[in-house]
Amino acid sequence: MVSSEAAPLAKTGGLADVVGSLPAALQACGDDVAVLIPRYGSIALKGLRRVFDHLPVRLGSARYDCSLYQAPGEFPFYLLDCPPLYGRKGLYGESGVDYPDNHIRFAVFCRAALAVARGVFKTDVFHCHDWQAGLVPAYLQTFAGDPTFLGVKTLFTIHNLGYQGLFPKTILPEVGLDAALFRSDGFEFFGNVSYIKSGIAFAGAISTVSPAYAREIQTPEYGFGLDGILRSRAGVLSGILNGVDYRDWNPETDQFIPARFSAHDLGGKRVCKERLLAELGLPPEAIGRPLLGIVSRFTRQKGVELIAEIAADIVAQDVCLVALGAGDPKCEESFLRMAAEFPGRIAARIGFDNALAHRIEAGADMFLMPSRYEPSGLNQMYSLKYGTVPVVRATGGLDDTIEEGAGFKFREYSGAALLEAVRAALEAFENPGAWREMMLRGMAKEFSWKTSAAAYSALYQRLLGRP
Ligand code: ADP
Ligand code: GLC
Repeated sequence: MVSSEAAPLAKTGGLADVVGSLPAALQACGDDVAVLIPRYGSIALKGLRRVFDHLPVRLGSARYDCSLYQAPGEFPFYLLDCPPLYGRKGLYGESGVDYPDNHIRFAVFCRAALAVARGVFKTDVFHCHDWQAGLVPAYLQTFAGDPTFLGVKTLFTIHNLGYQGLFPKTILPEVGLDAALFRSDGFEFFGNVSYIKSGIAFAGAISTVSPAYAREIQTPEYGFGLDGILRSRAGVLSGILNGVDYRDWNPETDQFIPARFSAHDLGGKRVCKERLLAELGLPPEAIGRPLLGIVSRFTRQKGVELIAEIAADIVAQDVCLVALGAGDPKCEESFLRMAAEFPGRIAARIGFDNALAHRIEAGADMFLMPSRYEPSGLNQMYSLKYGTVPVVRATGGLDDTIEEGAGFKFREYSGAALLEAVRAALEAFENPGAWREMMLRGMAKEFSWKTSAAAYSALYQRLLGRP
């Protein structure tokens, strides 16, 4: 697996959760899996084992001296080291600004993946995730004559079509890409080079992270300009829903929450709510009233502006809201403004805080995900397990995972539609017996990796022409 993120070492969102837990589930299916990510500056060398010293990557006229480390764990977890490229604070940028050499950073990464497959981990299938790994299939085309890669297949998984890795055409010689592949059925995209389109165009098979999103991305509304090529490749495109790693996200064993609970004994959930209110400076009297939670990357995708639209209406219902997120400075400010306007009702924490994310999942009564689009979404599945009833927009994976009786859905992307769904949830909350039933229905749901890993494994076999 070639990925820019894998939990617990490098994470900005759900991609990390997926690449951090799918390999073990695949191993249980009998596959041998290794993962390659860059060694970012935030990943300490201490605890890693150096497994390969000289891994020079030549791109155009430049040479990047890389080496390879391995992290301890259930499967070979490799880290590509090249301090001038990856030894920085951020994964993709800092203070909301992308690094100017991301095209080189992830081109070197993809070329190095080929070298790792040649010298360290013999590979039948490259499973590439998102645009950062999108060049692997293109480089394989370029080296089609290399006997090392005879019969080697590629699967490209789209976790988010909104991030494309778009760069001007002038980078072609710099990243050593074959100019003949710069065409509309290749990685050319409106005159630019698109790393995600490279994955879509040249991979042997394409998948995305829910069946609904696999359909949606073939439409102009959700296709980000790539719906045409996705329709043309519909025969090899499938949707496999993400699973949840219940070793990390389970209220019965969660080490980050102040009290553990289960479907048989919900007592601990009240303790989690009490502590969460206190931690975020909300009044203890709010314990009897619904507490709404949000944990999100703050981007346009997540529909956070709809929350701002309905904040006053929510507060008017004698309800509290806690939000944790980071990203777009405008979204961050908007949440801080709401918290300032409604003290004792709305609390916002800006930043990335895994432990607090767990405490919100455990302590809230309801979880809001009004996403504009959502390829899979993991937080709504975590919420179900924690008895925190999701209120979601019916799109992508949210539509696939939230059934009536376990959560609330709205369809139109508007504050009014969200408010209607929240009102329905608040009304349901007033009937404790029925609410409890709803929580229990959600807690009984299983989105384990077993089923999804089996689907990926079958896809690898199909690619390799094995029945
Ligand atoms: P996406 O990948 O689009 O961000 P997902 O729902 O698939 O959405 O996954 C998000 C993951 O990132 C979850 O594990 C969630 O808890 C975590 N996460 C998002 N924002 C934060 C944050 N500010 N602090 C801690 N964890 C976060
Ligand atoms: C993306 C999507 C999210 C998905 C995650 C992991 O970041 O936005 O919906 O769950 O990838 O596949």
